[in-house]
Amino acid sequence: MKLWAVSDLHVGPSKGRDRLAQIPSHPEDWLALVGDIGESQDDLRYVLGELAPRFRQLIWVPGNHELWTLPGRDTLRGEAKYQALVDMCREQRVLTPEDPYQVFEGEQGPLWVVPMFTLYDYSFSPPGSTPLEAVAWARQAGVDAMDEVLLHPDPYPSRQQWCIERCQRTELRITETIKQHNLPTVLINHFPLSEELAVLPRVPRFKVWCGTHRTSDWPRQFRAAAVVFGHLHIPQKRILNGVPHYEVSLGWWPNPRTKLHQVLPGHNIQ
Ligand SMILES: [Fe+2]
Ligand SMILES: [Fe+2]
Repeated sequence: MKLWAVSDLHVGPSKGRDRLAQIPSHPEDWLALVGDIGESQDDLRYVLGELAPRFRQLIWVPGNHELWTLPGRDTLRGEAKYQALVDMCREQRVLTPEDPYQVFEGEQGPLWVVPMFTLYDYSFSPPGSTPLEAVAWARQAGVDAMDEVLLHPDPYPSRQQWCIERCQRTELRITETIKQHNLPTVLINHFPLSEELAVLPRVPRFKVWCGTHRTSDWPRQFRAAAVVFGHLHIPQKRILNGVPHYEVSLGWWPNPRTKLHQVLPGHNIQ
């Protein structure tokens, strides 16, 4: 049994659906969909419906795009939007960050598969910056993010506060899970877990919207055998402190290449 991953398909009502046809069928394996899969609830529903028959188990974590409230297409905001997506995944038996973590029995032995949603808190910025200062610092270089307009944190007062709550809750759940059964983990999150990974040569200050220092130590803390992320649109494998970190997106537009990344065992691209 293998664990595959892909992120940032960005399927919309009139774009990207042909990319799904290029995803091969692996009926014995699991596939992690690592965020920015669709641009709306309907898009995600469509993708899950297409891919579920091709794999034994799908896993989904939200990207920032799935959490956008698009004028004219969505009404739900923030946590309510996230919960609606979680409910829809559950109807299709897709694992989400809200479900009990499952054990993946692969060639390398059993591991906890941990889908996560941690967002960002603007801490990938000059030390001591407030979120407002971090955004201003990015904008000085001409870099901005649509999240500032479309990703609402309701009912939290800010995306930073939502991130803090998500990190505290996730850390507690993983800790409790490992207490039950002390296995290594595979950590799956749309956002990179450390600033070291948030490297964007074309738009370096976009890292402001890429993660939080709160998760930097989690690979060590939770004995990660692998970490899977997306969001950067720069597919890559990096080894940090002996742990492979896979960015599993399709790459930069307008010419992304549809591929799956084999996370377990080892690493291949198909
Ligand atoms: Fe993306
Ligand atoms: Fe993203």
